[in-house]
Amino acid sequence: MVITIDGIKCQAHKGEYILDIAKRNNIHIPTLCHSDALPGQGNCRLCIVEVIEKGRKKVVTSCIFPVTGEIEVVTNSEKIRGIRKTLIRLLSARAPKNEYIDKLRQEYNIPPETRFKTDDNENCILCGLCVRACEEMGIYAISTVNRGITKKVSTPFDEASDVCIGCGVCAYVCPTSAIKVLDEGGKRHLWNKTFELMKCVKCGEYITTREHFEYIRKKIAAEGTEIIEPLCDKCKKKTLGENMAQTYK
Ligand code: SF4
Ligand code: FES
Repeated sequence: MVITIDGIKCQAHKGEYILDIAKRNNIHIPTLCHSDALPGQGNCRLCIVEVIEKGRKKVVTSCIFPVTGEIEVVTNSEKIRGIRKTLIRLLSARAPKNEYIDKLRQEYNIPPETRFKTDDNENCILCGLCVRACEEMGIYAISTVNRGITKKVSTPFDEASDVCIGCGVCAYVCPTSAIKVLDEGGKRHLWNKTFELMKCVKCGEYITTREHFEYIRKKIAAEGTEIIEPLCDKCKKKTLGENMAQTYK
């Protein structure tokens, strides 16, 4: 089927999300809590658009709105900009000094927040992506704790979690870089826990934590694939190239 986004005709499949169709057609819709690896989060609402269907207009969240018929989509109408401004204002009150939020605030000409008591060190917007990423890996080391203004993401009782493997996937998916992974002197510090980092067996570069490597090794073994060696990405590619050259000699 064909849908129209900002006057551009776009091919779409039934059930596809508006955001994915827009991306494929190089139409920009701002997002925060969307990750291609973990679609369907739908928490920040920054990606709202207006949908016109059979003459009726409605505001929808484009990253979780599946297309079921021929619709017209407007991504940047006055109404949408107005709602987005309010959302950015609230995000800015939560994380006033965060680089990404501040960039959005300036893009939408919103003055710095002065009405609420703000915390300049806060970077988390509680989108939940980190928690979901951890759950999808089957680890469950972090979750949202507390309520209201004290709500935050943490390990149980803010203590070092027995189950955390220090993979850092939580930090990788975080849209506001709120989670800091500190690697120094062969150790990784994350979520109040210190991990030993493993070295690449070929070049000696630090790669990941022992717990993370074991996690990957077990997953791979469960799939019946060969047991892997601890290698950095560079050495992995080099070894693959050498093996291929050997095969086609
Ligand atoms: S730490 Fe990052 S990914 Fe996790 S909830 Fe906060 S903003 Fe979202
Ligand atoms: S990007 Fe769609 S709700 Fe956050």
